[in-house]
Amino acid sequence: MNILLLGSGGREHALAWKLAQSKKTEHLYIAPGNAGTSQTGTNVPVDVTDFDAIKTFVVEKEVDMVVVGPELPLVKGIKNYFKENKVLDNVLVVGPDMQAAQLEGSKSYAKEFMQRHNIPTAPYRKFNEETLEEGYRFLEKLQPPYVLKADGLAAGKGVLILEDLQQAKEELTQMVNGAKFGEAASNVVIESYLKGIELSAFALTDGKDYKILPVAKDYKRIGEGDTGPNTGGMGSVSPVPFATEELMKKIEERIIKPTVEGIKEENLDYTGFIFFGLMIVDNDPYVIEYNCRMGDPEAESIIPRIKSDLVELLAATANGTLRQTTLEIDERYAASVMLVSGGYPGSYEKGKKMEGIEGVNNCILFHAGTARDIDDGSVKTSGGRVMAVTAYGNTMEEALQTAYANVDLIGFEGKYYRKDIGFDLKN
Ligand code: AMP
Ligand code: GLY
Repeated sequence: MNILLLGSGGREHALAWKLAQSKKTEHLYIAPGNAGTSQTGTNVPVDVTDFDAIKTFVVEKEVDMVVVGPELPLVKGIKNYFKENKVLDNVLVVGPDMQAAQLEGSKSYAKEFMQRHNIPTAPYRKFNEETLEEGYRFLEKLQPPYVLKADGLAAGKGVLILEDLQQAKEELTQMVNGAKFGEAASNVVIESYLKGIELSAFALTDGKDYKILPVAKDYKRIGEGDTGPNTGGMGSVSPVPFATEELMKKIEERIIKPTVEGIKEENLDYTGFIFFGLMIVDNDPYVIEYNCRMGDPEAESIIPRIKSDLVELLAATANGTLRQTTLEIDERYAASVMLVSGGYPGSYEKGKKMEGIEGVNNCILFHAGTARDIDDGSVKTSGGRVMAVTAYGNTMEEALQTAYANVDLIGFEGKYYRKDIGFDLKN
């Protein structure tokens, strides 16, 4: 099979690393990719939302399957584009169509879907400019903290959690007026605050059946002890010690199964990864968000634990034969520590030469923001999140220890990482 993978982060390097291992893969192309993905296949300088350029490439290279890494092309309708273009008719697309991708693209669409299918989530209401006064009254009835969510995609920044009622009203006003998050917040979902511990669960679905992938925990804040601003993710571990068999059963019965049944009942065209962002409250799972893709940096710990052939799994996902596949998981733990540029998630410098990459052992490096220097071929930083260092272990501690030993071997000016990944999961 010829495969085109869209995206350029650590998630995509993890997917590319695994796809390249399949005997079924003839050519693997990554658009646009990074310095890491170029070791697993051919990087192609095409933008993930330039559907016409993607079409030209797919036709020219006789691509059989397109795997979509990030949400943006899905929410913008890449699947629909493929369905509508006769020459792309036979190409498999891993990912939902534009409507089904609204499960991630619109918080209120996701909330309404969950209500229709009795999927546990925080109670909520939706407000806009016309119903602003009602929004104030609704906030007055809630207890702090107040959770305000921009309805549309806001690059992972559209959620505000506020302690103060007055401030919550002001933020709501700015959101619906377009002063904050633009069009994405013309509708705002206000929901009850759920106090618990977060967990990321994943499944592959072909719209009828599903396979549950390993769970993971990610660490979003820049600072140790989960402090400071949010980032794209500073590390992850999989599996998660508190995700017992009993909890996993609840997650499957109350959330995963009704979600896939809902997709089927509503005839949604969903063939891809579903990411369930969960809050576990008193050992009961609630959905805080759906995403229509793998998580990043969860993928960097989960993908290495998949033993089965990923090309077979994804092709079956896209062509509706997932039931006939088996999913085998490595029992070991995997832990990923993200190396980031100094200053991130604020402003940071790029183009720093990376040293020590060749000297690592017992780990996998998943590149995120890296690029190869065109003059001397060296690897340089090119983004905020630079590289995930992933290691296996028979225990979580062992996986983390091996990952951190390798983190020390890699150097670049301004290197920063969190030293406490997994801190809240240790006994
Ligand atoms: P989201 O983009 O919906 O995942 O929200 C971003 C973050 O806000 C989540 O990862 C949670 O940490 C937090 N969050 C979202 N919704 C809630 C909620 N209802 N209660 C508590 N925390 C929440
Ligand atoms: N790690 C959270 C996300 O990918 O959205």
